[in-house]
Amino acid sequence: MSQTIIITGGAGFIGSHVVRRFVTHYPNYRIINLDALTYAGNLENLHDIEDRSNYIFEKANILNAEAIDKLFASYHPDGIIHLAAESHVDRSILSPLDFVYTNVIGTVNLLNAAKKLWNGQHSNKRFYHISTDEVYGALGESGFFTEQTRYDPHSPYSASKAASDHFVRAYGDTYQMPVIISNCSNNYGPNHFPEKLIPLFINNIIEKKPLPVYGDGLYTRDWLFVKDHAAAIDLVFHKGKDHETYNIGGFNEWKNIDLVKLLCKLADEKLNRPKGESEKLITYVKDRPGHDRRYAIDASKISKELGWKPSVTFEEGLSQTIDWYLQNTEWLRHVTSGEYQQYYKKQYQS
Ligand code: NAD
Ligand code: DAU
Repeated sequence: MSQTIIITGGAGFIGSHVVRRFVTHYPNYRIINLDALTYAGNLENLHDIEDRSNYIFEKANILNAEAIDKLFASYHPDGIIHLAAESHVDRSILSPLDFVYTNVIGTVNLLNAAKKLWNGQHSNKRFYHISTDEVYGALGESGFFTEQTRYDPHSPYSASKAASDHFVRAYGDTYQMPVIISNCSNNYGPNHFPEKLIPLFINNIIEKKPLPVYGDGLYTRDWLFVKDHAAAIDLVFHKGKDHETYNIGGFNEWKNIDLVKLLCKLADEKLNRPKGESEKLITYVKDRPGHDRRYAIDASKISKELGWKPSVTFEEGLSQTIDWYLQNTEWLRHVTSGEYQQYYKKQYQS
């Protein structure tokens, strides 16, 4: 094996696509998927590659510094790609401390483990932190987030991600650790946990349940197909420069209500339902507190310096995504039983 990479959060939505990409594209790398399997972690996401000889799963919590140190000492990773996180804004409003623990303290535990293991020997080493555009706050009608935009997080989730980004940079500056960060816009695609807008609404359309649009529905997000994010992560990991930040985005802004209407239209066609049937499920509900009005990424740096651009159009990606959920009803059934039902009640019926 030419190198060992620990990918944290590899059983989650984006992490599973990153793990699959690295395991299949780089058969000479040893890929360790380190994940605590919280409600969002699901090994079913990786069923197709779990028997590959270059893939290892380690169930571990990044809050357990001792366990993380042991794993690092045992595998001697050359690279860390850190995706493990509490990732849902609405949950962060319900329980902010969980986000401080996992996203801030968990990240610092990983930095400490890498620092201890590498002990200043940084040749061919890399600590890659996966972050979000939400650290930049909210935009008005115009403008884009660049790598120079001042941090201005508004939710407990984005505040915890901003804090983790600061720690990663601080370890780069203070201990000269080979750190790198990317901040990405909203992802969508297969294996997305149905608490987030697109998979939640696909699930509710299938079940003919109300589609809860927050506020006036005019909030804007910049959507990127998850496999294009995984490709960007691959590129940044291999070709990015230490201590740099790369913004990643879809060049694809949608107001929530327009996106929901498109989703309803595509789903009706695929489910052979009469035109306009699913739109009738749209229900305006109370707004998310601190709701950021608009996100939009300027991804020109990664595009110019590393040659990345999205490969999938939104219509194609959304269509593939709906197909995936329609073909994977067992997956949906598993992840929407148990804890999901309690969360759903608390979030939407209180
Ligand atoms: P996710 O919630 O689907 O998955 C998170 C994974 O982390 C799960 O497998 C979970 O089991 C694991 N995890 C959580 N706490 C852990 C802990 N204490 N120890 C070990 N593992 C733990 O998240 P996602 O949407 O795939 O996001 C992955 C990363 O990408 C996050 O850091 C997130 O901030 C960032 N990000 C997400 C998006 C998006 O649109 N989803 C966009 C930009 C950046
Ligand atoms: O921008 C990147 C971020 O995108 C990631 O860092 C986060 O991990 C990820 O969860 C996502 O955050 P958002 O808050 O933008 O995604 P979410 O799918 O929760 O919401 C998208 C938009 O849809 C947002 O404006 C809120 C709205 N929404 C969401 C839900 C769940 C609704 O109107 N109704 C809903 O039920």
